[in-house]
Amino acid sequence: MRKLLVIGIGAGNPDHMTVQAISGLNRADVLFIPDKGAGKTDLAELRREICDRFVTNPKSRRVEFDVPVRAEPAPSYRSTVDDWHEAIAAIYEGLIRDEIAEDGCGAFLIWGDPSLYDSALRILERVRLRSNIAFDLEVIPGITAIQALAASHKMALNRIGDSILITTGRRLTEEGLAGNAGSTVVMLDGKCAFNTLDDRDVVIHWGAYLGTPDEIILSGLLGDVGAEIEKVREEARRDKGWIMDTYLLRKPGEPQGD
Ligand SMILES: C[S@@+](CC[C@H](N)C(=O)[O-])C[C@H]1O[C@@H](n2cnc3c(N)ncnc32)[C@H](O)[C@@H]1O
Repeated sequence: MRKLLVIGIGAGNPDHMTVQAISGLNRADVLFIPDKGAGKTDLAELRREICDRFVTNPKSRRVEFDVPVRAEPAPSYRSTVDDWHEAIAAIYEGLIRDEIAEDGCGAFLIWGDPSLYDSALRILERVRLRSNIAFDLEVIPGITAIQALAASHKMALNRIGDSILITTGRRLTEEGLAGNAGSTVVMLDGKCAFNTLDDRDVVIHWGAYLGTPDEIILSGLLGDVGAEIEKVREEARRDKGWIMDTYLLRKPGEPQGD
């Protein structure tokens, strides 16, 4: 039976690689490196750097593959994502069938951790349901952008006994801050959704390119730093050609307990 490892490689710093991830890389005969197209070459480059640095198995080889670009969301976000995942599932199936020997082992290198805003596991489940190819799956966890954010700001994610909500920029714009969430972590935000919040008396801890030499972090009350973050973000995005940022929002101070 073919073996498939889904390995979390951390959020941008090769030092995020765990011992388990390094040994997983070296168990694989084939390492799959996605190329997500123009503007994302730095991300493919980091995966190559990780392989150069940690792979000592002389028998392993790398296979780079193109990831199709997602169409604009029409008629609905869900159906667009569904079509896109179906297209990627067909690519994954081909890679598993053609590149991994019947008793061989392949590895997908996943940014951060495979469980957080990443579709590789969902797509591999689709491949399994298509029933054209059988494989054993093993998941190796990685350091997420959220952990990198907390470490860079030297902060705990939750306040005492309080909850944390993880959401996207799109949902923050549509729904605002959930009243019952002590702290809210926002990912996948291309449009500075924090600036759509009416309440400016909220603390933001923001970070871009976390864990990399280009890391930028800023914090303060939204009313004080919201506009600055937007400006810094836009300049960095223009200079580098891409940006990934994550931030945490919460009311200042500790919650008033019972
Ligand atoms: C598709 S999700 C992948 C998340 C990843 N699986 C993880 O565990 O962190 C991409 C989002 O993760 C966040 N992200 C990933 N790497 C980051 C980094 N180095 N700095 C800041 N945000 C990052 C951004 O919010 C970005 O929009």
